[in-house]
Amino acid sequence: MMRGVMSEQDAESSVPADVLTAAVREGFARAGFAEADVPGGLSVVATANPAFGDYQCNAAMPLAKAVGRAPRRIAESVIAALPAHPCLGRAEAAGPGFINLFLDDAWLCKQGAALGTDPRLGVPRTGRGRTIVMDYGGPNITKPLHIGHLRSPNIGGALDRMYRLLGYRVIADSHLGDWGTQFGITIMGYREYGDAEAMERAPMEELERVYVKSYERSRRDEAWLTRCREELVKLQAGDAENTALWKRFVALSLEELDRIYGRLGVSFDLVRGESYYRDRLRETVAVLRERGLARPSEGALAVFLEDEKLPPCIVRKSDGGFNYATTDIATVMSRVEEFQPDRIVYVTDERQQLHFRQVFAICRRLGYDTALEHVWFGLMRLPEGTFSTREGTVIRLEALLDEAERRALAVVQAASPDMPAARQAEVARAVGVGAVKYADLSQNPQSVVTFTWDKALALDGNSGPYLQYAYARIAGVRNKYDARFPGRDPETEPLRLSEPVERELLIRLVRFPETVRRAAESGKPSIVTDYLYDLAQVYSAYYQAVPFLKAPAGLRESRVRLGGVTARVLRRGLELLGIEVLERI
Ligand code: ARG
Repeated sequence: MMRGVMSEQDAESSVPADVLTAAVREGFARAGFAEADVPGGLSVVATANPAFGDYQCNAAMPLAKAVGRAPRRIAESVIAALPAHPCLGRAEAAGPGFINLFLDDAWLCKQGAALGTDPRLGVPRTGRGRTIVMDYGGPNITKPLHIGHLRSPNIGGALDRMYRLLGYRVIADSHLGDWGTQFGITIMGYREYGDAEAMERAPMEELERVYVKSYERSRRDEAWLTRCREELVKLQAGDAENTALWKRFVALSLEELDRIYGRLGVSFDLVRGESYYRDRLRETVAVLRERGLARPSEGALAVFLEDEKLPPCIVRKSDGGFNYATTDIATVMSRVEEFQPDRIVYVTDERQQLHFRQVFAICRRLGYDTALEHVWFGLMRLPEGTFSTREGTVIRLEALLDEAERRALAVVQAASPDMPAARQAEVARAVGVGAVKYADLSQNPQSVVTFTWDKALALDGNSGPYLQYAYARIAGVRNKYDARFPGRDPETEPLRLSEPVERELLIRLVRFPETVRRAAESGKPSIVTDYLYDLAQVYSAYYQAVPFLKAPAGLRESRVRLGGVTARVLRRGLELLGIEVLERI
């Protein structure tokens, strides 16, 4: 028991931000300051400029105001009281009262060397013993996926992998829209306009075609709309013919989903969809009524959320049908029952913010204390005229991936003309899909992403291909070393800090764990992409500035090793993002 606790602490103590935050806490306490007096709390932040320390604590300034003492004096007395830790090299007070903290060089080298063999790359299991249900990538089916469907599985998949690395038990569930109003429209469209031959040849296109025709008709033809609704009600009541059609449409959609998600490298533990909860909806509404939460309102039943300053949420329509929100409340109940999750994280576009605020508010009123989080993202768009395979107004996700591979093939052929054609095609697939995924992930999720091919496929910017090429180049150095110095093992030499840029590189490497944790907890994979891009650039500056294979023995081995650690971190980072890593390009 005790041993487990100790080793967990040991694991955590290799994360510099944690060690230094703990040290600073202790320093403030020993100097006689209460953390409660510090507005904003005590923590350290990684700095970009080594002149301000490797990490900095700014708490002395707000504390000074609160306790009426000079901030610089506070900083000095805290520094005098800092506990010793092998990680902490030195600390100095700067400016009005900054506490600048420097990592210890010997510790950096030891830690850097450990990253060379640690399969977790120092990432602590902060989530051990905790469960997260990740709800992402659940499109409304029977319609082909378009580019708007990229971000949820892409961002959700990246966060999912990060949480798993952090030691959480993750249950990834794709909550398909497989029970909604689109089925009434599709069933009517299929009966009226369906073409059996087209349905055999290209079923998803055919389903979309009949859906669009039926939907358009429902907008101008009241009787048609009524019949669509009736078909939906029949389906939801278990009508045999509609159920058979529904099953067929679902199966076709799942095939297409598997294919495209397969190309994206996304997979789920569960693909339940709304229909899975259909038999719980009546009961869910009954519970809401019993608790006095749902009240009749103009023939419907609604939960009024004035206290939360939210509009009422309809949980049963006047025609007796249930809503998207009803299903989501039932889904929370079911997940809590089955998995006892500590958190449920939903990844959808920004248009569902109100929906989730309402659902979360209702779940809290029902007494659920599971943390419910909505990670939302902005739309992704393409500038006009940059895409060659347009179909109507929507661009299909599959067409985007096809075009990415086509364009990547041209890049690969130009960069590696001597590579066998089959290998070029293989590389182009990884580079093309990686470019699309990275172009999305590298943006702050909560912004509109304007996707351009030039940026996505750039070999010299913050792009997937740049990092894939950087990785292959860095990993290649070790092969050159092995060829030049056969039988020698660089790992037998210690890491050395002979140039400032080596220290800069090592500092970045040891920040990998805290970077992953921050990205996961804030729902922003872009924190990892920024980190990887910066890492690749620092390495590249290093590689250009100093000799590697021509360096004196000892230093040469140290540099090759440091390159090896950089390659491992890049590789693991790209894998977390779901981007394929190639040893040779
Ligand atoms: N089907 C929804 C859509 O296409 C996404 C589902 C999100 N998950 C949930 N539990 N509501 O936008």
